[in-house]
Amino acid sequence: MGSERGHCAIANRPVVNHPAVGGAAAAASSRYPRRMDHLTSPAASIAPTGVDLSALAEPNLTPVLGRYFERSWSHGIGHRLFDTDGKSYLDFANGIAVSALGHSHPAVTKAIHEQVDRLIVPTGAMGYAEPVVRLAVELAGTFPEPLDTVLFLNSGSEAIEGALKLARRTTGRAGIVAFKGGFHGRTLGATSVTSSGMNYRAGYEPLLPGVHLLPFPAVYRDFDGDEKRATAVCLAALHDLVRTTIPAEGIGSILIEPIQGEGGYYPAPAPFLRALRAFSSEHGIVLIADEIQSGYGRTGRMWAFEHAGIVPDVVCIAKAIANGLPLSAIVSRRELQERWGRGAHGTTYGGNPVACAAALAVLETIRAERLVENAAVRGAELVRGLEAIAAEDPRIGDIRGPGLMIGIEFVKHRHTKEPNGALVEALMAGCADAGLLVLSCGRDHNVIRLIPPIDVSPAEVGEALGILDRTLASLPG
Ligand SMILES: Cc1ncc(COP(=O)(O)O)c(C=O)c1O
Repeated sequence: MGSERGHCAIANRPVVNHPAVGGAAAAASSRYPRRMDHLTSPAASIAPTGVDLSALAEPNLTPVLGRYFERSWSHGIGHRLFDTDGKSYLDFANGIAVSALGHSHPAVTKAIHEQVDRLIVPTGAMGYAEPVVRLAVELAGTFPEPLDTVLFLNSGSEAIEGALKLARRTTGRAGIVAFKGGFHGRTLGATSVTSSGMNYRAGYEPLLPGVHLLPFPAVYRDFDGDEKRATAVCLAALHDLVRTTIPAEGIGSILIEPIQGEGGYYPAPAPFLRALRAFSSEHGIVLIADEIQSGYGRTGRMWAFEHAGIVPDVVCIAKAIANGLPLSAIVSRRELQERWGRGAHGTTYGGNPVACAAALAVLETIRAERLVENAAVRGAELVRGLEAIAAEDPRIGDIRGPGLMIGIEFVKHRHTKEPNGALVEALMAGCADAGLLVLSCGRDHNVIRLIPPIDVSPAEVGEALGILDRTLASLPG
């Protein structure tokens, strides 16, 4: 089906005039001054090498890893990634929501340099290192009570593994409830609770026993936009599970992404999360929030679960916390980790001092520049701009997500809601050609996710909207 787009109001306009980013928003930008020191950073003088890294990679680099692009990357400055030909791209992908402060952020880079000169090796098994302890204190301060105790690990998957182990040992129950469409990682335990795509699971059976996958309230796709019905149906599935399959007293943990990420950027309705909280408390179940993609200010709150007014028992965090260095964590109340027990879990590299020093710099910057608020304001601007585009293009079925975790679901036509993965693939490629990096997600690969740095400026929001709009307008079907 071809596009029914007429002339779009914002196509071909200079980006600074985009209606979503003028006036008060532009004035507010002075609170988030752009870091001109990027222009004098060593990266700014890197000359293009012209090397085709994909050709170089061919014989030896693994073919296993999936890639959105086959481009060759050279370096990053601020919110731009540069390829080896010297072309610059506005980066709204950020290594999949990792570089929340963009590239070569001066405060983060400085903290890394200083820590590298002081101590690199992880000392967790030997005692304490300052950035690790200080980060635990600062990080704990970002959580509501009673979440006050931090276990550092390396990756998101590892945090999920740890959280599932914590729940099993502290409750003595084997049952795990997770949700269809969820993505929690690729280690075997994390794979067992992941169902956002068949390729993550196929051929790895038998997976972890005791996992029960229930429907997730994907409001637009599965419930025609009816949040109440989505909540009721998915809660009924949970109640049915404990009536017919496993008693509530056999369930050790309920694991959920407050905003489903890889599965399609679906926020769980607040009443659903509140009901899970109540159910878990009633039955002594450990409620685990996977905030690996949604956390750290991205959604306009420090943690996405705050939108629902709940406090999980365990929170898994990773990705953005060290702006690119590998670091993850499990956060819970102290009593839970005391019961888990000394030596019940461990890590060689988790809580590496360099990664922790970077994470401290990220946290200080988020606070100093009020970036959680920036994510909320810029996110609202992005959504307004996207709605203007959608008004002219019936292939946009839904725009959703708080703050700067925005999903745009593409369909053949709004009336049929038939997923349009081919359009999304073409849009991703076209935007990259036009200098904007965006990624897809969703079980049918028909959702574009926008995950800009959380210190994105109004001008960059306008620039991205302009490229998206013009590229979409140029694509048939
Ligand atoms: C919500 C969520 N959980 C877990 C993971 C796994 O993290 P990692 O790739 O660091 O193991 C991811 C990664 O994309 C994620 O988005």
